[in-house]
Amino acid sequence: MKQAGIFITLEGVEGAGKSTAVASVAAFFSQRGLQVECSREPGGTPTAETIRHILLNPTAEALAEPAELMLLFAARAQHVAHRIKPALAAGKIMICDRFTDSSRAYQGAGRGMDRALIEILAKAAEQGLEPHLTLLLDLPVAAGLARAAARRGLTLRDRFEREPAEFFERIRAEFLQLAAQTPRIVIINAAKPLAEVQAQIHAVLQAKFPKIAARPLGEHHG
Ligand code: TYD
Repeated sequence: MKQAGIFITLEGVEGAGKSTAVASVAAFFSQRGLQVECSREPGGTPTAETIRHILLNPTAEALAEPAELMLLFAARAQHVAHRIKPALAAGKIMICDRFTDSSRAYQGAGRGMDRALIEILAKAAEQGLEPHLTLLLDLPVAAGLARAAARRGLTLRDRFEREPAEFFERIRAEFLQLAAQTPRIVIINAAKPLAEVQAQIHAVLQAKFPKIAARPLGEHHG
């Protein structure tokens, strides 16, 4: 199946502001008359959301690390097959909050799992799909964790949020290293005020998609 649409992913540690960034990216395209769909991982289809529940909710039976890894990729395989690929085939702009780079960072660097195994699972789940662009929202771990805690309020921390700061330091370092060696990943300084973060995102989209950026802004339907 040919990919007619555009696949954009957002990555970063907890509290980097990915949800707001997803909205900015979506607005860039929808204001220019393109059809946009937003999703997240783990999740994005009913089955993948069921898997997400298992992954995020702490239970008495601890999740073994290989089980965590394989569940993440099982969810991703469902998401790619039943949501992302059909959206792209229909010519849509698919924007996803986290994708395989999160597995490289969280399971690879955070948990220390076998990188070769991660790449094998990625190949199986992705079936040739690769993001056209990945925005890495980078900020110091302490700032991200503080934002995430403020947002969470009185609700309980999920299974990942219970990890110590060192876990997130390894993840941040891995994301930065991935960005340094992967042209599709562009770093956004997420420690800046919101308006500046949005301006950085806009500049990246403008440079990457000049023809779309040049379209007139307006009220578009469908
Ligand atoms: P979520 O509440 O969406 O976190 P955030 O708002 O920070 O994106 O929960 C997703 C969690 O799952 C997050 O802590 C990162 C983790 N995760 C992985 O460990 N590996 C992965 O491949 C993905 C997609 C997510």
